[in-house]
Amino acid sequence: MPSFTLTINNDKKVISAEPETPLLWVLRDILDLTGTKFGCGKGLCGSCTILYKGNSVRSCTLTIAAALEGNITTIEGLSEEGLQPIQEAWMELDVPQCGYCQSGQIMAASALLSKNTRPSDDEINRAMAGIICRCGTYVRIKKAIQLAANKLEE
Ligand code: FES
Ligand code: FES
Repeated sequence: MPSFTLTINNDKKVISAEPETPLLWVLRDILDLTGTKFGCGKGLCGSCTILYKGNSVRSCTLTIAAALEGNITTIEGLSEEGLQPIQEAWMELDVPQCGYCQSGQIMAASALLSKNTRPSDDEINRAMAGIICRCGTYVRIKKAIQLAANKLEE
């Protein structure tokens, strides 16, 4: 089996796997980073969203061969230096219900706020499109993104 070096949460990890293996499999099954969730496995639900080179990416459709060039950030890596404003906002507004989709939601929101600390409603809607919450927490998610944006502007 070939070996690959991935940078995950600023840490180099050597992985033995086929090059076409989806990153999500590596995160959950090999590295035990189970904060990233498996939903559909087909790029349709967003529950597996991580950051790759700072962009929101579905890890079930990103192969490890395509993920060698930049840092991969998972929900576990988001708070290495303490809680981020996005996480504080999520907690203050008690956003999750069952919680299954929430790491994907937070990672997509985090990607948005890293590039735009004053997102409009439309920009939030576009950034969060396709990350499905079966519990319907969308209103709280949007409020938490706005609250986190305010915190970043303080
Ligand atoms: S598990 Fe990746 S988009 Fe659904
Ligand atoms: S909180 Fe349950 S699916 Fe989103």
